[in-house]
Amino acid sequence: MSLTPIGEPRHKITTASLREKKLRHEAITCLTAYDYSSARLVDEAGVDIVLVGDSLAMTMLGYDNTLSVTIEEMLHHTRAARRGLKNALLMADMPYGSYHLTAEEAVRNASRFVKEAGAEVVKIEGGEKRADLIRRIIDAEIPVAGHIGLTPQSVNVMGGYKVQGKSLAAVEDLMRDAVALDRAGVSCMILEGIPREVAAMITAEVETPTIGIGAGPECDGQVLVFHDVLNLTFAPPAKFVRRYADAAALITHALQSYRADVASHQYPSDAESYHLPKETKAALETVLSRKRAMRR
Ligand code: KIV
Repeated sequence: MSLTPIGEPRHKITTASLREKKLRHEAITCLTAYDYSSARLVDEAGVDIVLVGDSLAMTMLGYDNTLSVTIEEMLHHTRAARRGLKNALLMADMPYGSYHLTAEEAVRNASRFVKEAGAEVVKIEGGEKRADLIRRIIDAEIPVAGHIGLTPQSVNVMGGYKVQGKSLAAVEDLMRDAVALDRAGVSCMILEGIPREVAAMITAEVETPTIGIGAGPECDGQVLVFHDVLNLTFAPPAKFVRRYADAAALITHALQSYRADVASHQYPSDAESYHLPKETKAALETVLSRKRAMRR
């Protein structure tokens, strides 16, 4: 086990650090964050990777799925997260439609994440069928993370958010996808929504670090969505989510207290108000008392 002791100087996490962690059997930690303040909190908590996931389409923008989020929106959030980071590796999701047409366009879009938003890795959904494209992007000096299993950008093809890799044929497909990503040279691969046994087999088979979400404990690391961890999703959690705090309850209580304090004139207090300097106050009182005297 490796827990960086509090106060110990932390080092910048790079794509090389992820491989070293796999070799040392040290768990890789990853959380999503989509803006400056949350990215800063995640970084300061010592998490290795901040993922600006396209899940922000739902958590931040209120869409039903990830399909409508645009590259401009993803760049905007990635830039904000970048400003919050010191040590964590910044990974950004390439949104649906930004790498599905031509390879040239995919490389151009990937380079925007690096050049305009400071991403260090771009994430692309899909296995074997994306291997050539991934090589092209890596050739352009852009590290790529793979993402296989339950890939949310394929929700309409999958017919919903369903656990993948349940039949023998599906397990074989997943193994092929993982090996293809490994050979293409991805920096890490996300394994989402697959049986624990399959994730364990993939993790043992490939040299690439695997990062699981709903894929059991044998992966080289774990990722969760910030809003799931803190109960900020307004929906019941998936089976794999562990809620570490109830931020919704905390925020609701704070907001209701604010409203009640304003309504009952208890906010702001005198201590929360600015005051005139003594001399100005004295001069003002003289002026006001003269005015009162003239009115009499
Ligand atoms: O968009 C996202 O948050 C993700 C994680 C679930 C891996 O892709």
